[in-house]
Parts: sequence; structure tokens; C-alpha cells
Amino acid sequence: MISAIRIDSATTLDEVKALLVACGLPTEDIRDEGAFVVARAGTQLCGTAGMELLGAVALLRSVAVHPRWRRKGIARALCDEAIRRAGTMGARRAFLLTTDAQAFFRQLGFAPIERASLPAEIRGTAQLRELCPASATAMARAVSRSRASAGTRVGAGCP
Ligand SMILES: CC(C)(COP(=O)(O)OP(=O)(O)OC[C@H]1O[C@@H](n2cnc3c(N)ncnc32)[C@H](O)[C@@H]1OP(=O)(O)O)[C@@H](O)C(=O)NCCC(=O)NCCS
Repeated sequence: MISAIRIDSATTLDEVKALLVACGLPTEDIRDEGAFVVARAGTQLCGTAGMELLGAVALLRSVAVHPRWRRKGIARALCDEAIRRAGTMGARRAFLLTTDAQAFFRQLGFAPIERASLPAEIRGTAQLRELCPASATAMARAVSRSRASAGTRVGAGCP
């Protein structure tokens, strides 16, 4: 029995890609391990959240939790941590695109915006130009200035 999920950024891109494929998300433009926070139960990768930092704006992407580990607060904790890290690195606003997780992201404070009003830096990413369907919803929220964290643990029992 595993009693907690550990969130950190120690991972390999192959692991992240395998999880994204299992969750139906694109992997073509994934390159930088450092841009991911991940959730692990023991050695198993349960979830990921990626962040592309583009000056004062950030693109939250590749948010995925393995089906076996969903509805335990893992994605929320991963997104909170990714956004907090972006804030410590100077981001003031976070953006994302999603095809069917709008309700989840609304719970994190994101609101839909017109795709045309996305900043040029975000519109220039591969996610926007090539990977996300035109039907995907663009969403945005503010990133508050935040302190360094001592690490995050999610109280989630093993299924
Ligand atoms: C969307 C996804 C990341 C959510 O992961 P999760 O770990 O199950 O989410 P959490 O447990 O942290 O949920 C946080 C809150 O959002 C809600 N929520 C989770 N998934 C939801 C969904 N699909 N629709 C509506 N609400 C959802 C939860 O009920 C929870 O609310 P609560 O705290 O009031 O109970 C996961 O379903 C997934 O990997 N989907 C496939 C990939 C994808 O679509 N990613 C998003 C686009 S990048």
C-alpha cells in the first residue's frame, strides 16, 4: 500500500512521453525534462504537467494523469506546482489549450479566452501552430508571485 504521491521534477522524457501517449496527448515537440513536474507512487509515473516559460507568460501543457490514478487531486497538485514554479521564474500569466478538460481547468482558476487574444509568444509555440486542433479552447489565468516550496505531497491512497 502506497500512502502518498510524491511530486518532483526527476524524470526522463521517455517516461513522460509514454504517459502522454497513454492519455491521448501529443508528444512531438517534447524536449526539455526540466520543464515537467511529475507525480510518482514509488517508481511508477502517475502524472505530469509541463510548462513552457516565454518571458512573462507561460504555457501549461501536457497535463495528464494515468487513468488508474485519476480523481485523487494529482492533476490539481501538479498544475499548482507548475504554475507556482513559473511564477518564481517571472511568469505573470498562464495560458493553455484543451479539447475536453475545460471543466477541470476552470476549477484551477482558468477562464476561456478568444484564441485571437493569446499573446504572440504563446501563438508561436508548436502546440498552437501545429499540435492542438483548431477546435481546442484557449484558457488563461493570472500567476501570483509566490515563495519557493519545500516540496509537495498529495495524500492519495493507492488504488
Ligand atoms: C484532466 C486530468 C488531467 C485530470 O486529472 P485528475 O488527477 O483526475 O484531476 P484531479 O483529481 O486533480 O481533479 C481536480 C478537480 O477537477 C475535477 N475534475 C477532474 N477531472 C475532471 C474532468 N475531466 N471534468 C471535470 N472535472 C474534473 C475533480 O473532480 C476535482 O475537483 P474536486 O477537487 O472538487 O473534487 C485527467 O483526467 C487526464 O489525464 N485526462 C486526459 C488528458 C487531458 O485531457 N489533459 C488535459 C489537457 S492538457
